[in-house]
Parts: sequence; C-alpha cells; structure tokens
Amino acid sequence: MLINPSSPHSDDGWLARNIVDPSLKDSAPIVLETKQLHVYYGDNEAIHEGDLKFPEHRISALIGPSGSGKSTYLRSLNRMNDGVARVTGEILYRGVDVNRPEIDVYEMRRRIGMVFQRPNPFSKSIYDNITFALKRRGVTDKQTLDEAVETSLKQAALWDEVKDQLKKSALALSGGQQQRLCIARALAVKPDILLLDEPASALDPVSTSKLEETLLQLKNDYTIIIVTHNMQQAARISDYTAFFNMGRVLEYDETSQIFTSPQVQLTNNYVAGDFG
Ligand SMILES: Nc1ncnc2c1ncn2[C@@H]1O[C@H](COP(=O)(O)OP(=O)(O)O)[C@@H](O)[C@H]1O
Ligand SMILES: [Mg+2]
Repeated sequence: MLINPSSPHSDDGWLARNIVDPSLKDSAPIVLETKQLHVYYGDNEAIHEGDLKFPEHRISALIGPSGSGKSTYLRSLNRMNDGVARVTGEILYRGVDVNRPEIDVYEMRRRIGMVFQRPNPFSKSIYDNITFALKRRGVTDKQTLDEAVETSLKQAALWDEVKDQLKKSALALSGGQQQRLCIARALAVKPDILLLDEPASALDPVSTSKLEETLLQLKNDYTIIIVTHNMQQAARISDYTAFFNMGRVLEYDETSQIFTSPQVQLTNNYVAGDFG
C-alpha cells in the first residue's frame, strides 16, 4: 500500500519513492512520526524530506550511503541538533511535537534516549555511570539505585560480565562492553524510545553480534531506531528499513521487502552493493 500514490512509475516499473505506512500492516501503535521534515546546516539542506512512522516495540533501521543524512535525521528526533541545525516540519512523539517551545528537553530526552557511534562512558565507575542521571534527577535511595544498576545491566546483557566489579572504572571495559554500558546507562532512566547511531561501528564481530542479540531482546520493551551502514545488520535485526539517499528517504517498508523486492531502483542498487 503506497502512501504516495502519485509517485511516478518509470517505464521499467520502478517507483521514484515508496514510503509505506507501517500501521497498514502492523497493529503496533505509532510512537514517533516525522512530517515534512527539513534540516538545514546554514544554507545546506541536509534533509529535504523525511516522512516516516515508527511503530512501538519494533526495530527500524536507517540505511544509506555516507552523507545521505541518516545521523542528521536521527539526531533531530530528540533535538540533538539544537543549536547546530535548523529543523522545520513536525516530529511527533506520541502525538506531541518535540520542538514545541514548552517541551522540557531534558525530560523528552529521558524518554527518547540516544546511544552514539563511539562508546562514550563517563570516566567514572560502572555503577556511577548508570546512576548518574538518576542521581541528577534526585534519586538518592541506595536500594533504588542498586536495583536500577542491576536491571539495566541485565537488560543490556552486561550484568554477568561486570556484576562483581561495579566499582571498576568504565574505561577499563572492552569497547563492546563500554557500548553495552552506554545502552544500560540510557535504559536506567526508563526511556520509551532508543535511538542508536551506528552503535557497532567501533566493535569487533563478536561484540557486534552480542550487541545485536541485546537489541533483539530490548525490542520487547522499547522502540528502537538504529542507523547502520551494515546492511546485513539491518537485515538481521530490523523489522522496518528506511533507505536514505542525498537527504531524502526514498523507500521505507518492512525489512524483508526492502531486501528482497525493493520498489525503488536506487534501493535495489544500494542493497545489491552497487554503491555506498
Ligand atoms: N554538524 C554539521 N555541520 C554542517 N554540516 C553537517 C553537519 N553534520 C552533517 N553535515 C552534513 O549533512 C549531510 C548529511 O550528513 P550526515 O547526517 O552525517 O549523514 P550520514 O549519517 O548519512 O553519513 C552531509 O552533507 C554532511 O556533510
Ligand atoms: Mg552518520
């Protein structure tokens, strides 16, 4: 079912764009949606168009060549571009535009958490990394903090590896462990949505596969949007995939569709490895 029925068919049957509305195929409610999104760095328009809907408790992958706007799009979703880029259009989180002036950005980012490309734990103990935001929010009860540490480390599949060394510096962990710690840190404040920007790009294959297993577990409780340059990763873990090219989303559909029968020629070329 096409959202944009006016997409021109070319002679050989390819569509110019194919943006599917997940709610036509999926009973999961839409938790985040962008409409007519444009993002500008000065005069440079980095996102020309990005109308996507993200269903609850699904993993959606953003793929596309380097410089196509994936990070710009992702960072707009929880206003990490504030002060860096100008954003127009709507970003609706459970129906409320995150750019409304009365929005408490801090609280919004608690609900829409983010994990970055390079693991960036604080230079503090494992325990303090996870409790940092909670303490800043005024939580002081030791039992509550202890429970948050255990729960989020378990959710991030790191608990078994670190439970006896919670006082150890987070910087002493391996890269893969640090990235799972950053996920645990994001989970500690009980977000609703988790945004991840190429979270495995600095990891070895074993850590990457561990991270992927973790994300598959997490989708039972969280809505996940992940940028990845690794198409196999998108195919392995995501339910929906958006293909970005030159600042535009050209195709968005179920991941199986994107990888087996894309409707847009450039998507086909990209997933076939012809460019990128
Ligand atoms: N902080 C920034 N300032 C100015 N231009 C930027 C900035 N970040 C990204 N861009 C530009 O925006 C475009 C999209 O970049 P980006 O979103 O990083 O793409 P991707 O994540 O797909 O590689 C590129 O042309 C890039 O040079
Ligand atoms: Mg990027």
